[in-house]
Amino acid sequence: MADGAHTAGAEDGETRRDFLLLTTVAMGAVGVGSIAWPIIDSMNPSADVLALASTEVDLSPMSEGQRITVTWRGNPVFIDYRTDEQIEEALNVDVAELRDPEPDGLRAQDPKWLIVIGVCTHLGCVPLGQKAGEPRGEYGGWFCPCHGSHYDTSGRIRKGPAPLNLPVPPYEMSDGKVLIG
Ligand code: FES
Repeated sequence: MADGAHTAGAEDGETRRDFLLLTTVAMGAVGVGSIAWPIIDSMNPSADVLALASTEVDLSPMSEGQRITVTWRGNPVFIDYRTDEQIEEALNVDVAELRDPEPDGLRAQDPKWLIVIGVCTHLGCVPLGQKAGEPRGEYGGWFCPCHGSHYDTSGRIRKGPAPLNLPVPPYEMSDGKVLIG
């Protein structure tokens, strides 16, 4: 009888301890879960980063000869609505003589529109030539004042230390808009 009571008491005690232990473990699991989620969530790209993965630009307000700068993945992108004269200059080049030989037709999907990343391929300055009155260099495109690189109207390096043409980002044009990225 006494043994039975002792056993029952011990079982009660163990059950209570088990319950307390289980509760603590469960609380711990919830605690870890609620800490882990923000950490995992923070590893996903945020909405504004996803939005910047591509940049859509409405080209319809632009006029011929105008240049604008937009941002794509943190880089300036030059959009140039080229004049016939600028296109002519870009085509009228012996491509084989260029430091980074690329025909204009491979750089501009539509000859009217040149779209390039506006970062000098020498040491990363942003070349001048986007705003009215800024120097455009000896070839009418862009001029990098950092060490004197000259780019032509196709964004190709023509003079100075830069080794490569201004890069063309991936883009698609449709309905008067361009989607960069
Ligand atoms: Fe443009 Fe050096 S960074 S010429």
